[in-house]
Amino acid sequence: MSTQPILNKKDSAQALDTACIRADFPILQRRFDGKPLIYLDNAASSQMPQPVIDRLVRYQREEHANVHRAVHHLSELATAAYEQARRTIMGFLNARDEREIIYTRGTTDSINLVMHGYGRAFIGAGDEIIISALEHHSNIVPWQMLCQEKNAKLRIIPMNDAGELLLDEYAALFNERTKFVALAHVSNALGTINPIREMIATAHKWNVPILIDGAQAAPHLPVDVQDLDCDFYAFSGHKMCGPTGVGILYGKAALLEKMQPYQGGGDMILSVTFEKTVYNTIPYKFEAGTPPIAAAIGLGAAMDYLTGLGIERIAAYETELLNYATAELSALKGITLIGTAKHKAAVLSFEIDGVHPHDVGTILNDEGVAIRAGHHCAQPVMKHFGVPATARASFAFYNTLAEIDALVEGIRKVQKMFA
Ligand SMILES: Cc1ncc(COP(=O)(O)O)c(C=O)c1O
Repeated sequence: MSTQPILNKKDSAQALDTACIRADFPILQRRFDGKPLIYLDNAASSQMPQPVIDRLVRYQREEHANVHRAVHHLSELATAAYEQARRTIMGFLNARDEREIIYTRGTTDSINLVMHGYGRAFIGAGDEIIISALEHHSNIVPWQMLCQEKNAKLRIIPMNDAGELLLDEYAALFNERTKFVALAHVSNALGTINPIREMIATAHKWNVPILIDGAQAAPHLPVDVQDLDCDFYAFSGHKMCGPTGVGILYGKAALLEKMQPYQGGGDMILSVTFEKTVYNTIPYKFEAGTPPIAAAIGLGAAMDYLTGLGIERIAAYETELLNYATAELSALKGITLIGTAKHKAAVLSFEIDGVHPHDVGTILNDEGVAIRAGHHCAQPVMKHFGVPATARASFAFYNTLAEIDALVEGIRKVQKMFA
């Protein structure tokens, strides 16, 4: 098998030029113990290309000031860049209105915002919230906390042993007490792409709002929130070539207007007296305090970068990487793939017979291959498959077939060491 990126071999306008793309990522040139870095932990956090780094540096060198607060030049520049990034993100998601884009600290923060702002206001005793068996802890724990506080009930959509949700069982969970659905677009532990369009439509048949956790989808698949018709969509900047410390909550304006603020403080108010506070309009009502200005501007630059490559082309290339890796690992003896859904994105979880995933991760690291070993903040998924942890390789558009070959070589070495 060739070690060149597959799409480069096609004489196609659609092809991604991976060699050229890799040159944009300075960190990919790093070596550890003389070995080139093979970074396959993109589901945890992806790397940042030079144009995004340059944008952050330019902001810090030339534009930094607080936003929305002063009439001086720097504050105007910072505010303009911060709000321009919001419009870029609106375009990336095809949202209707920039007021529907809220800057948060990340996916976790976005989900907690909805739990506080919507859940605490509109969910009460005896009500039911539907989540799925393959959620990240970030999309379990906030809803559990709400259920505890309100005496509401969590209902779980089951999955099969491929890691696919059971849609009939999902539909059967709805009743007049169902008040909310929170669902991953793509599973971080299994890679399953859930059929969210259909699942959103089911929730809406019951007039129930639905939040989509897009942390593992937004970096890999086209997302059109109007077409999907989701009520909320959450994701993190650092998983899509942007900085840490920033994420996005998309919410339909009509719902955001009805919600209570998540945090109180500066910028989220129109007026304050000791008797009464009048809250600011959306999105500012949900952006209390000094926001992550640099990170937000960096996220805008990351989206420009991804859009420049073309998210469809990214998706197609990553699918080829995943298919190749799946075929190569399946051909090895003593490997069990965890998560074999028909529709998957960028994630390959596996077990090596007789070897703890942490040992797999440590030995692969000695070979220069960075993967993740653990429960991936999805302990219920681990429980379903009867394992304490998995080894997980997760891909980005800058990975190559050669890197997957190195992963396979590393796995062979692990197997030899434990033979
Ligand atoms: C599916 C999913 N949801 C939520 C999160 C939490 O993201 P963050 O830690 O950026 O808030 C992650 C992170 O791995 C994830 O994969």
